[in-house]
Amino acid sequence: MKEKSMYLKLNGINRRQFFSVAGGAVVAAGAISTLPSFSRAASTHALPPLPYAENALEPVISAKTIGFHYGKHHKGYVDNLNKLIAGTQYADMTLEEIIAAARDKPEATSIFNNAAQTWNHTFYWNSLRSEGGGEAPAALKQKIEEAFGSQQNCEKELASAAVTQFGSGWAWLVKDGDKLKVVKTSDADVPLSSTTKPLLTIDVWEHAYYLDYQNRRADYVNGVIGKLINWDFAAKNLEAA
Ligand SMILES: [Fe+2]
Repeated sequence: MKEKSMYLKLNGINRRQFFSVAGGAVVAAGAISTLPSFSRAASTHALPPLPYAENALEPVISAKTIGFHYGKHHKGYVDNLNKLIAGTQYADMTLEEIIAAARDKPEATSIFNNAAQTWNHTFYWNSLRSEGGGEAPAALKQKIEEAFGSQQNCEKELASAAVTQFGSGWAWLVKDGDKLKVVKTSDADVPLSSTTKPLLTIDVWEHAYYLDYQNRRADYVNGVIGKLINWDFAAKNLEAA
């Protein structure tokens, strides 16, 4: 498949296919740059392959953490979602359609949570890469400088959002209208709407870092921003937004 951003995949013609694969999880040992293509399985959402080996993010995030986070937590959200939507009005919806339809419906809280967590985690894996960090590509950097003054300020704001999110949640760089912003969300919530498009995210649930960092969330966040952020992924999402 031609290389495209996850955002393109999620919003383009292949978005259902992206989350609907036959045969469950396959961990790709190769590089992140080209996301694999999938065949469609009827009405089920599948765990997309991890876009790198489980040890690819060491030493910032250990293979053990990735093994649990991807293989247990992310897989659990996908499995739960499939059980919850079977035979319901949500059964044949795309993941984004489920998120939009179940949001703010008290009777569909579990469906929203598991759908959003499925989406968020796939987005998170792609927001990171081995030997990430560094300078953002030119077009993205320009938008970052317009909004934050400098990439350094943007990274500081992202770190602050990630560290200060109370309890479980996510820190995001988003395009809101025509401007880039840093936002944080609680629990499973995702800043995805007709006007807000995520560019990258950092998972700050304890399961993302506790095995490696215990209570030192700031160390995890600084490691991720400095060494793992996949600015190319964010740039492609900006291009598609
Ligand atoms: Fe997580």
